[in-house]
Amino acid sequence: MTFTSPTTRSSPAVSIEAAIAAAVATVERNARALGAAYPGDTTVDNRYHPRSAEGAVPEGGNRGWTTSFRTGQLWLAWELTGDDVHRRAAEADVSDFGHRVRNEIDLDTHDLGFLYTLSTVAAYRLTGARSARSDALLAADHLLRRFLEPAGIIQAWGDLSDPLQRGRTIIDSLMNMPLLTWAAEQTGEERYSDAVRRHTAQLEQHILRPDDSTFHTFYWDAETGEPLRGATEQGAFDESCWARGQAWGVYGFAMNYAVTGDERLLVAARRCAGYFLRHLPADDVPFWDLVYTDGSDAPRDSSSAAIVVCGLLELARVESDAAQAAEWAARAHAILASLIANYTPVTPEDADGLILHSVYDLPKDVGVDEATLWGDYFYLEALMRVSRPEWKKYW
Ligand code: GLY
Repeated sequence: MTFTSPTTRSSPAVSIEAAIAAAVATVERNARALGAAYPGDTTVDNRYHPRSAEGAVPEGGNRGWTTSFRTGQLWLAWELTGDDVHRRAAEADVSDFGHRVRNEIDLDTHDLGFLYTLSTVAAYRLTGARSARSDALLAADHLLRRFLEPAGIIQAWGDLSDPLQRGRTIIDSLMNMPLLTWAAEQTGEERYSDAVRRHTAQLEQHILRPDDSTFHTFYWDAETGEPLRGATEQGAFDESCWARGQAWGVYGFAMNYAVTGDERLLVAARRCAGYFLRHLPADDVPFWDLVYTDGSDAPRDSSSAAIVVCGLLELARVESDAAQAAEWAARAHAILASLIANYTPVTPEDADGLILHSVYDLPKDVGVDEATLWGDYFYLEALMRVSRPEWKKYW
């Protein structure tokens, strides 16, 4: 497998505002090129194409777990520029997300959190749209149906009766909890917040390992609730530490600590962050799995770096130790500076991604050394967080 290594560019001064302008121009260009069609999860040779058809969903249709990252980019672009062209495009997506949930299209996934937080919840937060609120609550109910008693976890993937997926959850699920937290706030119903509290506590106990690395996925016995074993799906091997999973851990544990008040989640976020930072190569952007270190020719995953910038900034916000908070923020700024200097396209028109050199699923050879919708979203969120510290997150 060949891929192009990022080359460290000489860029002594990184301008956040110039990076925002370049990123927003690309978001606008992609929106013009694709119109209502959703792009694929990743670029192909650095170009986004309409998402492929699957089952009853036609080409460019709303299926899979990543379509809302386009919508999230549009909301961010609108907030950053005030240009209503982005708002109109985001609102078209939001109405389509309503269609998806009301018609039960491709909902057998915990990623309803990613999907409906960045589309309908963001719409409601930013514009007060009542239809977006009711569609988001419908999605939260679908997500809650995946909660398994007595294990106290939300099953990640597939139909609940699928024997291969039953009782399995994954570290990414931490990022899907905000949909339930938002539903609890909106309705006052504790069934949503109870699920968040129990699911996150189970992940803290079992998916985080004693050396502060994480399993990508973990199985429980759905009938007895007994914790069974960790395993990977997208990492190098079961005991390795998949970079993106560790990044989800930093951001996810920090956010869920803030809403549950469970101190163990704050400790978990710190441990995930420490491990991630100790395993970065010299340019601060990780290899796709943290088993690889400087000197390796493995591909990088810039999307993990973008996620961890947001996660470290969130951790800095909730951190009780002021000196430690300053350190998390400083490390976040350094990683973001490297992304801007070394991982953005030199000539923006030459690529559709906001950041290059991400990996979706290397073991399956999917989206290796490409831009990804989520990498682009979190890069723009990171720029927003750094340039507008008063910004209110969609999560
Ligand atoms: N949530 C799936 C991934 O990070 O690839």
